Amino acid sequence: MSATEDAASGRSVRPGGTALCLPGYASPVERLTDTLGRPVRDLRVSVTDRCNFRCVYCMPKEVFGRDYLFLPRAELLTFEEIERLARAFAGLGVEKIRITGGEPLVRRDVETLVAMLARIDGLDLTLTTNGALLAAKAQALKDAGLSRVTVSLDSLDDQIFRAMNDVDFPVTRVLEGIDAALAARLEPVKVNVVVKRGLNEDGILPMARHFRGTGIVLRFIEYMDVGHTNGWRLDDVVPAAEIVAAIDAELPLEPVEPAYRGEVANRWRYRDGSGEIGVISSVTQPFCGDCTRARLSADGKVYTCLFAVQGHDLRALLRGGADDAEVTASIADIWRARADRYSELRSAATADLPKVEMSYIGG
Ligand SMILES: C[S@@+](CC[C@H](N)C(=O)[O-])C[C@H]1O[C@@H](n2cnc3c(N)ncnc32)[C@H](O)[C@@H]1O
Ligand code: SF4
Repeated sequence: MSATEDAASGRSVRPGGTALCLPGYASPVERLTDTLGRPVRDLRVSVTDRCNFRCVYCMPKEVFGRDYLFLPRAELLTFEEIERLARAFAGLGVEKIRITGGEPLVRRDVETLVAMLARIDGLDLTLTTNGALLAAKAQALKDAGLSRVTVSLDSLDDQIFRAMNDVDFPVTRVLEGIDAALAARLEPVKVNVVVKRGLNEDGILPMARHFRGTGIVLRFIEYMDVGHTNGWRLDDVVPAAEIVAAIDAELPLEPVEPAYRGEVANRWRYRDGSGEIGVISSVTQPFCGDCTRARLSADGKVYTCLFAVQGHDLRALLRGGADDAEVTASIADIWRARADRYSELRSAATADLPKVEMSYIGG
Protein backbone atom coordinates (compact mmCIF):
# COMPACT_ATOMS: atom_id res chain seq x y z
CA MET A 1 0.00 0.00 0.00
CA SER A 2 1.46 3.31 -0.92
CA ALA A 3 1.06 6.50 1.10
CA THR A 4 0.44 10.01 -0.18
CA GLU A 5 1.18 13.44 1.25
CA ASP A 6 -1.54 15.35 3.06
CA ALA A 7 -1.18 18.91 1.72
CA ALA A 8 -2.49 20.64 4.85
CA SER A 9 -0.54 18.80 7.52
CA GLY A 10 2.42 17.70 5.43
CA ARG A 11 1.97 14.25 6.98
CA SER A 12 1.46 11.21 4.90
CA VAL A 13 -1.86 9.46 4.95
CA ARG A 14 -2.85 6.07 3.69
CA PRO A 15 -5.58 5.90 1.10
CA GLY A 16 -8.88 5.86 2.93
CA GLY A 17 -8.02 8.31 5.72
CA THR A 18 -5.71 8.74 8.67
CA ALA A 19 -6.86 5.73 10.65
CA LEU A 20 -4.61 2.69 10.68
CA CYS A 21 -5.61 -0.84 11.53
CA LEU A 22 -3.00 -2.09 13.94
CA PRO A 23 -2.59 -5.59 15.18
CA GLY A 24 -3.45 -5.57 18.88
CA TYR A 25 -6.07 -2.85 18.54
CA ALA A 26 -9.71 -3.89 18.20
CA SER A 27 -10.63 -0.91 16.02
CA PRO A 28 -8.66 1.34 13.69
CA VAL A 29 -6.56 3.87 15.64
CA GLU A 30 -5.64 7.43 14.72
CA ARG A 31 -2.31 7.76 13.01
CA LEU A 32 0.43 7.27 15.56
CA THR A 33 2.21 10.44 16.67
CA ASP A 34 4.58 11.32 19.51
CA THR A 35 4.10 13.96 22.23
CA LEU A 36 5.12 16.67 19.73
CA GLY A 37 2.74 15.47 17.01
CA ARG A 38 5.44 13.79 14.89
CA PRO A 39 4.53 10.57 13.04
CA VAL A 40 6.97 7.68 12.68
CA ARG A 41 7.92 7.53 9.04
CA ASP A 42 11.55 6.41 8.71
CA LEU A 43 13.38 3.52 10.30
CA ARG A 44 17.15 3.17 10.30
CA VAL A 45 18.28 -0.35 10.90
CA SER A 46 21.84 -0.93 12.06
CA VAL A 47 22.86 -4.46 11.09
CA THR A 48 26.28 -4.44 12.74
CA ASP A 49 28.35 -2.28 15.08
CA ARG A 50 31.53 -3.29 13.24
CA CYS A 51 33.25 -1.42 10.47
CA ASN A 52 36.23 -1.85 8.14
CA PHE A 53 37.03 1.90 8.46
CA ARG A 54 38.04 3.92 11.51
CA CYS A 55 36.78 7.37 10.46
CA VAL A 56 38.32 9.83 12.88
CA TYR A 57 34.98 11.51 13.61
CA CYS A 58 33.07 8.26 14.15
CA MET A 59 35.23 5.32 15.33
CA PRO A 60 38.56 6.79 16.46
CA LYS A 61 41.23 4.08 16.61
CA GLU A 62 42.25 4.93 20.15
CA VAL A 63 38.78 3.83 21.29
CA PHE A 64 37.80 1.27 18.64
CA GLY A 65 41.12 -0.59 18.73
CA ARG A 66 42.05 -4.28 18.97
CA ASP A 67 40.64 -4.58 22.49
CA TYR A 68 37.28 -3.01 21.75
CA LEU A 69 34.42 -5.34 22.59
CA PHE A 70 32.00 -5.42 19.69
CA LEU A 71 28.66 -7.16 20.02
CA PRO A 72 28.93 -10.95 19.99
CA ARG A 73 27.06 -12.60 17.12
CA ALA A 74 24.37 -14.10 19.35
CA GLU A 75 23.38 -10.61 20.46
CA LEU A 76 22.74 -9.36 16.95
CA LEU A 77 19.19 -9.50 15.70
CA THR A 78 18.77 -12.25 13.14
CA PHE A 79 17.44 -11.30 9.70
CA GLU A 80 14.10 -12.89 10.66
CA GLU A 81 13.91 -10.74 13.80
CA ILE A 82 14.76 -7.60 11.81
CA GLU A 83 12.06 -8.44 9.28
CA ARG A 84 9.47 -8.92 12.04
CA LEU A 85 10.29 -5.58 13.58
CA ALA A 86 10.37 -3.87 10.18
CA ARG A 87 6.88 -5.19 9.45
CA ALA A 88 5.65 -3.93 12.81
CA PHE A 89 7.10 -0.47 12.12
CA ALA A 90 5.61 -0.48 8.61
CA GLY A 91 2.23 -1.25 10.16
CA LEU A 92 2.62 1.85 12.31
CA GLY A 93 3.36 4.16 9.40
CA VAL A 94 7.01 3.67 8.45
CA GLU A 95 7.46 4.15 4.70
CA LYS A 96 11.23 4.22 4.39
CA ILE A 97 13.88 1.90 5.77
CA ARG A 98 17.59 2.64 5.62
CA ILE A 99 20.00 -0.20 6.33
CA THR A 100 23.10 1.10 8.02
CA GLY A 101 25.67 0.35 10.72
CA GLY A 102 28.65 0.29 11.46
CA GLU A 103 29.32 -0.77 7.91
CA PRO A 104 26.31 -2.74 6.67
CA LEU A 105 28.21 -4.48 3.89
CA VAL A 106 30.44 -6.26 6.41
CA ARG A 107 27.39 -8.15 7.74
CA ARG A 108 27.48 -11.50 5.99
CA ASP A 109 24.76 -12.04 3.35
CA VAL A 110 23.21 -8.63 3.92
CA GLU A 111 21.58 -8.97 0.49
CA THR A 112 19.43 -11.75 1.98
CA LEU A 113 18.07 -9.22 4.49
CA VAL A 114 17.50 -6.75 1.65
CA ALA A 115 15.43 -9.39 -0.17
CA MET A 116 13.37 -10.03 2.98
CA LEU A 117 12.68 -6.32 3.59
CA ALA A 118 11.98 -5.67 -0.08
CA ARG A 119 8.95 -7.95 0.24
CA ILE A 120 7.26 -5.45 2.59
CA ASP A 121 4.67 -3.52 0.60
CA GLY A 122 5.19 0.11 -0.31
CA LEU A 123 8.61 0.57 1.33
CA ASP A 124 11.38 2.78 0.05
CA LEU A 125 14.41 0.63 0.86
CA THR A 126 17.86 2.16 0.90
CA LEU A 127 21.31 1.62 2.40
CA THR A 128 24.21 3.79 3.57
CA THR A 129 27.73 2.44 3.05
CA ASN A 130 31.33 3.58 3.10
CA GLY A 131 31.60 2.06 -0.39
CA ALA A 132 34.60 -0.16 0.32
CA LEU A 133 32.76 -3.37 -0.62
CA LEU A 134 30.22 -1.80 -2.94
CA ALA A 135 31.89 -2.62 -6.27
CA ALA A 136 31.52 -6.32 -5.46
CA LYS A 137 28.02 -6.07 -3.98
CA ALA A 138 26.08 -3.43 -5.94
CA GLN A 139 24.44 -5.73 -8.47
CA ALA A 140 23.49 -8.33 -5.85
CA LEU A 141 21.91 -5.60 -3.73
CA LYS A 142 19.93 -4.32 -6.69
CA ASP A 143 18.83 -7.84 -7.62
CA ALA A 144 17.68 -8.38 -4.02
CA GLY A 145 15.39 -5.35 -4.28
CA LEU A 146 17.36 -2.40 -2.87
CA SER A 147 16.02 0.86 -4.33
CA ARG A 148 19.05 3.09 -3.99
CA VAL A 149 22.22 3.72 -2.10
CA THR A 150 24.07 6.48 -0.23
CA VAL A 151 27.86 6.33 -0.22
CA SER A 152 29.96 8.21 2.33
CA LEU A 153 33.05 9.85 0.88
CA ASP A 154 34.72 12.69 2.75
CA SER A 155 37.38 13.78 0.28
CA LEU A 156 38.58 13.22 -3.27
CA ASP A 157 42.12 13.93 -2.14
CA ASP A 158 43.60 10.49 -1.63
CA GLN A 159 45.89 11.52 1.21
CA ILE A 160 43.16 13.32 3.12
CA PHE A 161 40.69 10.49 2.53
CA ARG A 162 43.16 7.87 3.77
CA ALA A 163 43.79 9.98 6.87
CA MET A 164 40.07 10.40 7.53
CA ASN A 165 39.16 6.72 7.16
CA ASP A 166 42.36 5.94 9.13
CA VAL A 167 42.81 2.51 7.56
CA ASP A 168 44.69 3.85 4.52
CA PHE A 169 41.80 3.01 2.18
CA PRO A 170 42.27 4.60 -1.28
CA VAL A 171 39.68 6.94 -2.73
CA THR A 172 39.72 5.17 -6.12
CA ARG A 173 38.15 2.05 -4.63
CA VAL A 174 35.20 4.05 -3.28
CA LEU A 175 34.80 5.76 -6.66
CA GLU A 176 34.69 2.28 -8.23
CA GLY A 177 31.92 1.40 -5.78
CA ILE A 178 29.97 4.50 -6.80
CA ASP A 179 30.39 3.56 -10.48
CA ALA A 180 29.13 0.06 -9.73
CA ALA A 181 26.07 1.52 -7.96
CA LEU A 182 25.36 3.67 -11.02
CA ALA A 183 25.80 0.69 -13.34
CA ALA A 184 23.38 -1.33 -11.18
CA ARG A 185 20.91 1.60 -11.27
CA LEU A 186 20.77 2.01 -7.50
CA GLU A 187 19.65 5.55 -8.22
CA PRO A 188 19.68 8.32 -7.32
CA VAL A 189 23.09 7.65 -5.82
CA LYS A 190 23.83 10.10 -3.02
CA VAL A 191 27.27 10.87 -1.66
CA ASN A 192 27.57 11.97 1.99
CA VAL A 193 30.45 14.25 2.97
CA VAL A 194 31.03 15.01 6.66
CA VAL A 195 32.87 18.32 6.84
CA LYS A 196 35.27 18.86 9.71
CA ARG A 197 37.00 22.21 10.12
CA GLY A 198 40.67 22.11 9.21
CA LEU A 199 40.46 18.54 7.91
CA ASN A 200 38.56 18.40 4.61
CA GLU A 201 36.86 21.78 4.17
CA ASP A 202 39.22 22.64 1.29
CA GLY A 203 37.70 19.70 -0.55
CA ILE A 204 34.16 21.10 -0.70
CA LEU A 205 34.55 22.81 -4.08
CA PRO A 206 36.54 19.99 -5.73
CA MET A 207 33.72 17.63 -4.66
CA ALA A 208 31.06 19.92 -6.15
CA ARG A 209 33.01 20.26 -9.41
CA HIS A 210 33.57 16.49 -9.63
CA PHE A 211 29.97 15.36 -9.08
CA ARG A 212 28.13 18.21 -10.84
CA GLY A 213 26.42 16.97 -13.99
CA THR A 214 26.70 13.26 -13.05
CA GLY A 215 23.22 12.83 -11.55
CA ILE A 216 24.86 12.03 -8.20
CA VAL A 217 23.49 14.13 -5.33
CA LEU A 218 26.19 15.41 -2.97
CA ARG A 219 25.14 15.97 0.62
CA PHE A 220 27.36 17.89 2.98
CA ILE A 221 26.84 17.03 6.65
CA GLU A 222 27.76 19.23 9.58
CA TYR A 223 30.06 17.37 11.93
CA MET A 224 27.87 16.30 14.86
CA ASP A 225 28.43 15.60 18.53
CA VAL A 226 27.19 12.03 18.35
CA GLY A 227 28.66 9.54 20.80
CA HIS A 228 31.30 10.62 23.26
CA THR A 229 34.49 9.33 21.72
CA ASN A 230 35.13 11.77 18.90
CA GLY A 231 36.09 14.77 21.06
CA TRP A 232 33.59 17.02 19.28
CA ARG A 233 33.95 20.79 19.63
CA LEU A 234 31.64 23.41 18.18
CA ASP A 235 34.70 25.04 16.55
CA ASP A 236 35.13 21.91 14.39
CA VAL A 237 31.75 22.43 12.73
CA VAL A 238 31.70 24.11 9.32
CA PRO A 239 28.19 25.64 9.19
CA ALA A 240 26.01 24.59 6.28
CA ALA A 241 25.56 28.25 5.29
CA GLU A 242 29.33 28.54 4.84
CA ILE A 243 29.39 25.41 2.68
CA VAL A 244 26.59 26.73 0.45
CA ALA A 245 28.27 30.15 0.17
CA ALA A 246 31.58 28.58 -0.84
CA ILE A 247 29.97 26.58 -3.64
CA ASP A 248 27.61 29.38 -4.70
CA ALA A 249 30.55 31.76 -5.20
CA GLU A 250 31.85 29.62 -8.07
CA LEU A 251 28.83 27.55 -9.10
CA PRO A 252 25.69 29.64 -8.50
CA LEU A 253 22.94 27.88 -6.54
CA GLU A 254 19.25 28.40 -5.83
CA PRO A 255 17.10 26.74 -3.14
CA VAL A 256 14.82 23.79 -3.93
CA GLU A 257 11.56 23.25 -2.03
CA PRO A 258 11.64 20.21 0.28
CA ALA A 259 10.10 17.11 -1.28
CA TYR A 260 8.28 16.15 1.93
CA ARG A 261 7.92 17.12 5.58
CA GLY A 262 10.91 16.01 7.59
CA GLU A 263 13.37 15.87 4.70
CA VAL A 264 16.75 15.89 6.38
CA ALA A 265 18.74 17.83 3.80
CA ASN A 266 18.18 21.41 2.71
CA ARG A 267 18.31 21.15 -1.07
CA TRP A 268 19.98 23.51 -3.53
CA ARG A 269 20.30 23.26 -7.31
CA TYR A 270 22.88 24.65 -9.68
CA ARG A 271 21.36 27.55 -11.59
CA ASP A 272 22.79 26.16 -14.84
CA GLY A 273 20.70 22.99 -14.41
CA SER A 274 23.66 20.68 -13.80
CA GLY A 275 22.21 19.01 -10.72
CA GLU A 276 21.64 19.53 -7.03
CA ILE A 277 23.30 19.29 -3.63
CA GLY A 278 21.98 18.99 -0.09
CA VAL A 279 23.27 20.29 3.22
CA ILE A 280 22.42 18.64 6.51
CA SER A 281 22.65 21.28 9.19
CA SER A 282 21.66 19.43 12.31
CA VAL A 283 23.96 21.61 14.42
CA THR A 284 23.32 25.13 13.10
CA GLN A 285 19.67 24.65 12.04
CA PRO A 286 18.22 21.76 14.02
CA PHE A 287 15.21 20.03 12.52
CA CYS A 288 13.84 18.13 15.53
CA GLY A 289 10.37 19.56 14.97
CA ASP A 290 10.05 17.50 11.80
CA CYS A 291 11.97 14.42 12.88
CA THR A 292 10.08 11.26 11.98
CA ARG A 293 12.96 8.81 12.46
CA ALA A 294 13.35 5.79 14.70
CA ARG A 295 16.59 3.86 14.96
CA LEU A 296 17.06 0.18 15.61
CA SER A 297 20.47 -0.90 16.92
CA ALA A 298 22.09 -4.13 15.78
CA ASP A 299 21.17 -5.76 19.10
CA GLY A 300 17.53 -4.79 18.85
CA LYS A 301 17.14 -1.62 20.88
CA VAL A 302 15.00 1.12 19.47
CA TYR A 303 16.22 4.70 19.89
CA THR A 304 13.92 7.62 19.26
CA CYS A 305 16.77 10.12 18.82
CA LEU A 306 20.31 9.96 17.44
CA PHE A 307 21.44 11.59 20.66
CA ALA A 308 19.52 9.30 23.01
CA VAL A 309 21.26 7.77 25.99
CA GLN A 310 19.00 4.77 26.33
CA GLY A 311 17.18 2.49 23.95
CA HIS A 312 14.14 0.28 24.42
CA ASP A 313 14.92 -3.42 24.21
CA LEU A 314 12.77 -5.06 21.54
CA ARG A 315 14.99 -8.13 21.26
CA ALA A 316 14.01 -9.20 24.78
CA LEU A 317 10.39 -8.93 23.73
CA LEU A 318 10.92 -10.99 20.57
CA ARG A 319 13.00 -13.65 22.27
CA GLY A 320 10.59 -13.72 25.21
CA GLY A 321 7.87 -15.00 22.88
CA ALA A 322 5.79 -11.86 22.32
CA ASP A 323 3.37 -12.13 19.42
CA ASP A 324 3.15 -9.60 16.60
CA ALA A 325 0.32 -7.68 18.28
CA GLU A 326 2.34 -7.26 21.47
CA VAL A 327 5.43 -6.15 19.57
CA THR A 328 3.45 -3.56 17.61
CA ALA A 329 1.68 -2.30 20.72
CA SER A 330 5.00 -1.94 22.50
CA ILE A 331 6.57 0.07 19.64
CA ALA A 332 3.47 2.27 19.51
CA ASP A 333 3.77 2.96 23.25
CA ILE A 334 7.44 3.90 22.87
CA TRP A 335 6.66 6.28 20.00
CA ARG A 336 3.67 7.84 21.72
CA ALA A 337 5.87 8.74 24.72
CA ARG A 338 8.64 10.26 22.54
CA ALA A 339 9.62 13.83 23.44
CA ASP A 340 13.24 14.05 22.15
CA ARG A 341 14.54 17.26 20.62
CA TYR A 342 18.21 17.16 21.53
CA SER A 343 19.54 19.21 18.60
CA GLU A 344 17.28 22.10 19.50
CA LEU A 345 18.55 22.03 23.08
CA ARG A 346 22.21 21.50 22.17
CA SER A 347 24.74 23.72 23.92
CA ALA A 348 28.34 23.53 25.01
CA ALA A 349 27.08 21.83 28.19
CA THR A 350 25.16 19.08 26.38
CA ALA A 351 28.22 18.05 24.34
CA ASP A 352 29.60 16.13 27.32
CA LEU A 353 26.43 14.19 28.11
CA PRO A 354 26.75 10.44 27.64
CA LYS A 355 25.34 9.33 24.27
CA VAL A 356 25.46 6.16 22.22
CA GLU A 357 27.96 5.88 19.39
CA MET A 358 26.90 6.49 15.79
CA SER A 359 28.53 3.21 14.71
CA TYR A 360 26.25 1.35 17.14
CA ILE A 361 22.97 3.17 16.65
CA GLY A 362 23.37 3.69 12.90
CA GLY A 363 23.87 7.02 11.16
C1 LIG B 1 27.62 5.91 10.92
S1 LIG B 1 27.75 5.80 9.17
C2 LIG B 1 27.13 4.15 8.90
C3 LIG B 1 27.12 3.71 7.46
C4 LIG B 1 28.45 3.55 6.76
N1 LIG B 1 29.47 2.96 7.55
C5 LIG B 1 28.91 4.86 6.19
O1 LIG B 1 29.92 5.39 6.64
O2 LIG B 1 28.24 5.34 5.29
C6 LIG B 1 26.44 6.78 8.51
C7 LIG B 1 26.77 8.22 8.21
O3 LIG B 1 27.04 8.91 9.40
C8 LIG B 1 28.05 9.86 9.15
N2 LIG B 1 28.68 10.25 10.42
C9 LIG B 1 29.39 9.47 11.27
N3 LIG B 1 29.82 10.18 12.34
C10 LIG B 1 29.37 11.46 12.16
C11 LIG B 1 29.48 12.67 12.90
N4 LIG B 1 30.14 12.74 14.06
N5 LIG B 1 28.88 13.78 12.40
C12 LIG B 1 28.20 13.74 11.23
N6 LIG B 1 28.05 12.62 10.49
C13 LIG B 1 28.64 11.50 10.94
C14 LIG B 1 28.96 9.12 8.22
O4 LIG B 1 29.80 9.96 7.50
C15 LIG B 1 27.99 8.41 7.32
O5 LIG B 1 27.66 9.19 6.20
S1 SF4 C 1 31.32 6.71 9.37
FE1 SF4 C 1 30.75 4.69 8.58
S2 SF4 C 1 32.68 4.03 7.60
FE2 SF4 C 1 33.25 5.63 8.97
S3 SF4 C 1 33.80 4.59 10.88
FE3 SF4 C 1 31.66 5.27 11.04
S4 SF4 C 1 30.54 3.47 10.46
FE4 SF4 C 1 32.62 3.19 9.68
